[in-house]
Amino acid sequence: MLLSVAAVLLLFSCTSGENPAIQVLLTNKGLQYGKHAGTDWIQRILEFVTLPDFSGQVPLIHLFNIDFTLTGTKIKKCDLPEPSTEFYPDSTGFKTSLSGLSVALSGQWSTDLRAWHDSGTFDMAVFGVNVTSVVKLGKDAGGHLSVTSVSCDAQVGHVDVSFRGGTRWTFWPFVKKFRRMIRSQIEIGICPYVKQLIGNLEQHLQAMNVSFDVDQALTLDLALTSLPVVNVSSLNLGLKGEFYSIKTHAEPPFEAQSFTVPEQQGYMFSLGLSDFTVNSALYGYYSDGVFQTCITDSMIPPGFPLHLNTSLMGPYIPQLPKMFPGLLMNLHVYATEFPVFSFHPDAVNLGFQGAVEAFAIQPNATRTPLFKLSVVSNFSSKVWIAGETVKGSVSMDKLTLTLVGSDVGTFKTDALEEVARIGVEMVLAKVNETLGEGIPLPRMIYAQLVNSVLKVQEGFVVLFSDVEVLTDRGFSLHTNRAV
Ligand SMILES: *[C@@H]1O[C@H](CO)[C@@H](O)[C@H](O)[C@H]1NC(C)=O
Ligand SMILES: *[C@@H]1O[C@H](CO)[C@@H](O)[C@H](O)[C@H]1NC(C)=O
Ligand SMILES: *[C@@H]1O[C@H](CO)[C@@H](O)[C@H](O)[C@H]1NC(C)=O
Ligand SMILES: *[C@@H]1O[C@H](CO)[C@@H](O)[C@H](O)[C@H]1NC(C)=O
Ligand SMILES: *[C@@H]1O[C@H](CO)[C@@H](O)[C@H](O)[C@H]1NC(C)=O
Ligand SMILES: *[C@@H]1O[C@H](CO)[C@@H](O)[C@H](O)[C@H]1NC(C)=O
Ligand SMILES: *[C@@H]1O[C@H](CO)[C@@H](O)[C@H](O)[C@H]1NC(C)=O
Repeated sequence: MLLSVAAVLLLFSCTSGENPAIQVLLTNKGLQYGKHAGTDWIQRILEFVTLPDFSGQVPLIHLFNIDFTLTGTKIKKCDLPEPSTEFYPDSTGFKTSLSGLSVALSGQWSTDLRAWHDSGTFDMAVFGVNVTSVVKLGKDAGGHLSVTSVSCDAQVGHVDVSFRGGTRWTFWPFVKKFRRMIRSQIEIGICPYVKQLIGNLEQHLQAMNVSFDVDQALTLDLALTSLPVVNVSSLNLGLKGEFYSIKTHAEPPFEAQSFTVPEQQGYMFSLGLSDFTVNSALYGYYSDGVFQTCITDSMIPPGFPLHLNTSLMGPYIPQLPKMFPGLLMNLHVYATEFPVFSFHPDAVNLGFQGAVEAFAIQPNATRTPLFKLSVVSNFSSKVWIAGETVKGSVSMDKLTLTLVGSDVGTFKTDALEEVARIGVEMVLAKVNETLGEGIPLPRMIYAQLVNSVLKVQEGFVVLFSDVEVLTDRGFSLHTNRAV
């Protein structure tokens, strides 16, 4: 029993070595921009931070201790130097060093020496704070990105405190001791605080959804498929990138192939998307039964050379007007195989295989089957980015109709094929028009993509892009920092 469970687990662990269908590669340019944006953001929020209360004891001539507490400590001014951040392959993460941070604080102090209570206000300046933090990136069982603190090191240069108020004699002789004490307490306190911040970030990451419903039919799985990969020049995240039908959640009968996203240090990031992602969406729609439609005569434009009326079908199926005169017809068009996208250098191909079933509609509304055709068609398209929109064009490479069943006797399909081609071209012209106008690149709340380039490669498409943090959303990147 145990053995078979182990065997099943082993089987699962083997099959879970799946290839990521989406890869995100962050370059050093992106890391530096992110750090810069983060520093500005921290600089801004620091002004609203109230530090935790702080208490300690200073021994007084080895006899008594003075208990002191600092409360309501606010940051008055903070000169936050830009830290240095680098990819740190040793710990699969980042190393961030902050050097020369200075902070001006103010708050209230109080001391207790036995029954003597004393209090007042203080101003404090903390100079030359250095912090070095190394974090490790990982992946949890649910496919979330995880971040943990590997090491942290903090030094404080020196601390100046000036106390006001109170009957000074209680602490006046011991200000030097307070300073030393406060300095070492701050030094000791920095790393736990940094770890707490990283812990908060980790909680956010754990709470994030790794799967999103994109519409009523499909959900997109973006769980990490493997541990993040970090080298000196980039961070690479491999995501599952698979669409599922919400209804069936069926696995498609094909797998993601491995691919390598080229690293382009001139852009902040590269995003590679395998044709598997697109095909899993098509498969999801297909298994959900989306690829089917019913064409009625009223949908056909007046000037079109074909009308769904048996009396007018003579040019295509000579016997039909005699067998069923004067009846309207319906065409049921559906996919018989899931449509397949394939990415090739600078071209995207789509193959569609389907069927058309034709019915005559009797006066009593009964549908009488007439014939069934199989459809094989291929389209090719080009996609590119112009400004902030994705543009494209599409053209038809092939369309063949074959008679696969008939209740009205056999007939040649050439003429129908010709008219179907005209019909598809008309639809494509509309699609072309829409693609020519372009579809805007997705915009996030706080950032947008700029300088984007799209390249179609064998089996995948890659987007090279920069990101611009929006300055009208609460923080700007290029203001001079207050000193
Ligand atoms: C902080 O770092 C700077 C530059 O790396 C160095 O000169 C300074 O001595 C450091 N301060 C402390 C308190 O270690
Ligand atoms: C996460 O997904 C669940 C279920 O799909 C949804 O209810 C929830 O709102 C999502 N949370 C976020 C933060 O998007
Ligand atoms: C880092 O990894 C990327 C792929 O993830 C690769 O393209 C690049 O050449 C690597 N850089 C170095 C310096 O090894
Ligand atoms: C079908 O076409 C014939 C010939 O033009 C016309 O007489 C007939 O009314 C049409 N039938 C329908 C239902 O429109
Ligand atoms: C048409 O698409 C199918 C995939 O559905 C592909 O196998 C075939 O090679 C394509 N044919 C042409 C002519 O592009
Ligand atoms: C509808 O009309 C057709 C042809 O006249 C006939 O064969 C069929 O039995 C009728 N169906 C119903 C339900 O009346
Ligand atoms: C769509 O546009 C492309 C390029 O502009 C063109 O080659 C193609 O024939 C057009 N297709 C249709 C159906 O209009």
